[in-house]
Amino acid sequence: MRKTKIAGIGHYVPENVVTNKDLEKLMDTTDEWIVTRTGIHERRWVNEPTGSSDLALKASEKAIAMAGLVPKDIDLVIFGTLTSDYHFPGSAVLVQDKMGMNTIGAFDIKAACSAFIYALSIGDQFVKTGQANNVLVIGAEIQSTGIDVTTRGRDMAVLFGDGAGAVVLQPSDGEKAILSTHIHSQGKYAKELWAELPTPIQNPPMSHEMLDAGRQYPQMNGREVFKNAIVRFPEVIMEALNTNNLQVKDVDLFIPHQANLRITQSVAKRLGVGMDKMYSNIERYGNTTGASIPIALAEAHKEGKVKDGDLVILAAFGSGFTWASAAIRW
Ligand SMILES: CC(C)(COP(=O)(O)OP(=O)(O)OC[C@H]1O[C@@H](n2cnc3c(N)ncnc32)[C@H](O)[C@@H]1OP(=O)(O)O)[C@@H](O)C(=O)NCCC(=O)NCCS
Repeated sequence: MRKTKIAGIGHYVPENVVTNKDLEKLMDTTDEWIVTRTGIHERRWVNEPTGSSDLALKASEKAIAMAGLVPKDIDLVIFGTLTSDYHFPGSAVLVQDKMGMNTIGAFDIKAACSAFIYALSIGDQFVKTGQANNVLVIGAEIQSTGIDVTTRGRDMAVLFGDGAGAVVLQPSDGEKAILSTHIHSQGKYAKELWAELPTPIQNPPMSHEMLDAGRQYPQMNGREVFKNAIVRFPEVIMEALNTNNLQVKDVDLFIPHQANLRITQSVAKRLGVGMDKMYSNIERYGNTTGASIPIALAEAHKEGKVKDGDLVILAAFGSGFTWASAAIRW
């Protein structure tokens, strides 16, 4: 069977920087509370009407150019997001249109913070089986317009940011390859981190009363998320290593989903590695959900922290609960 490599990567974040001090003006919070609990100092929030497909477009242009391709060469688009531009259709078709691609397959994956690795896993299968040769895998989110930026929503509002990252997958005939991907879910925790509306379970799916109660905003049981995350991250990382007969010491860089600096620190401790092995940019971007891993991967690559021959482990955990990992020989 063929192997898959990452041939191009790119990211884009909105220019508008929102600091913790800026949030102090919107809600009852403090820079000290946010930094101590999460490690976040600032995030990017769009300040004009923008869709996740618009951010995706900019990240994808870079990834496609780095792969030495033009948009018409792409034969499949997989878009990991929980903030598609519209309730339907998904944002992948908007990217297909905006980039002038052929009438190729294009679909969204709704696996929250794990969405990029889920999408990567699907793209990998398409390339391995010969069904596609140039797959664009995107993670992009606009979180800022869907959160409650008052004191009522402060536990969520301080965490999230906007951004996009993308990779191009191609067949590999060398060592450079996605070695394996691993995806998991446990739906009994669905309501520990979720946004309910609009829901077809209700008729109408959204009403003034529901909106007044704030049921359109994401809700989180932070402690439950934290407790599960610090177990599932190391577990799914070890699954990736064991599958490939590799050990923690073989890894050049871990790129975890940027959920919370304290989660990343706890995962590093459980794996017995220093924070120098765990890539982190949460201090600048907050949690960008499905976009966080491709943004981090693109920045790490740009900074020379991901070099040819390196073993890179991606890992994610989030709403669902879902969790996932990928082992990549760069
Ligand atoms: C959200 C999180 C930072 C909260 O930290 P915590 O240590 O559980 O919170 P604490 O118990 O210390 O504090 C809770 C208190 O802070 C308050 N609080 C919540 N958000 C606040 C904010 N932004 N500013 C100030 N106070 C806040 C709460 O109202 C609560 O007050 P109370 O005790 O009077 O009821 C933490 O649970 C967490 O990181 N969870 C994982 C979140 C995550 O990663 N989600 C995304 C996963 S993909």
